[in-house]
Amino acid sequence: MVDKENFNDLLKKSDFHYLIENVISKIELEQYTAKIILPHCWRVMYLVYRLAAEMGSEDRDIIKAGFLHDLGKLGISRAVLLKRGSLTDYEFELVKGHSHLANVMIKNLLKEPLIARYVGDHHERWDGKGYPRGVSQHEITLGGRMLAVADSFDAMVLEPVPYINNLPLEKAFQELIEGKYFQFDGKIVDIFIKLFKDGKLTLSEIWKADSLFFEEIRKHSFFFNLLEDSRPAAVFDFTL
Ligand SMILES: [Fe+2]
Ligand SMILES: [Fe+2]
Repeated sequence: MVDKENFNDLLKKSDFHYLIENVISKIELEQYTAKIILPHCWRVMYLVYRLAAEMGSEDRDIIKAGFLHDLGKLGISRAVLLKRGSLTDYEFELVKGHSHLANVMIKNLLKEPLIARYVGDHHERWDGKGYPRGVSQHEITLGGRMLAVADSFDAMVLEPVPYINNLPLEKAFQELIEGKYFQFDGKIVDIFIKLFKDGKLTLSEIWKADSLFFEEIRKHSFFFNLLEDSRPAAVFDFTL
């Protein structure tokens, strides 16, 4: 079973080590985009890890899918991905391609078909109105349903988005509850919120996991330099 006490130890396991090394070191392709997406991906990995532990899952691929879920954004132009203000319908369609793109990258480049399926499903919705497959309910992989909750929570509460205030916890819970059996698997929403209500998961703990991310990437000089650089056009602020 995934043990919630040992996130640190989990990261040291060879398959995780390999995954993180592999992805971070090959990501030089689009470093600037990586800077934007990886901290979010790391937090989603932590959230999915906690969910998996709570649900008694033994599937480590679900956790790895957390780290990789937005990998497809590396294939989207910065002009669209970092655009200030709302996207046109066409631009939104381009952004929507990221989950399918990540599915293809993970399946064909990393040779991880199960992780690829979970990642490909992270924007599917319980009511079938999601993308790219438009499948519903339990046709969506469990990993995809777990990712959807963790990803939305991070985007609402933790991800620093310019001009948009992050929601307080209670408001985010309300959004998740309103999305039960429309956007999300309602059971997973209940388990996720209960983790917080029972005091088993706190925001400060998530930020602590976030600092592990920076510890991890400090080992990679190119990425550390990237975070340290002073490009004036930076849209997001990251504090080390
Ligand atoms: Fe996404
Ligand atoms: Fe995401």
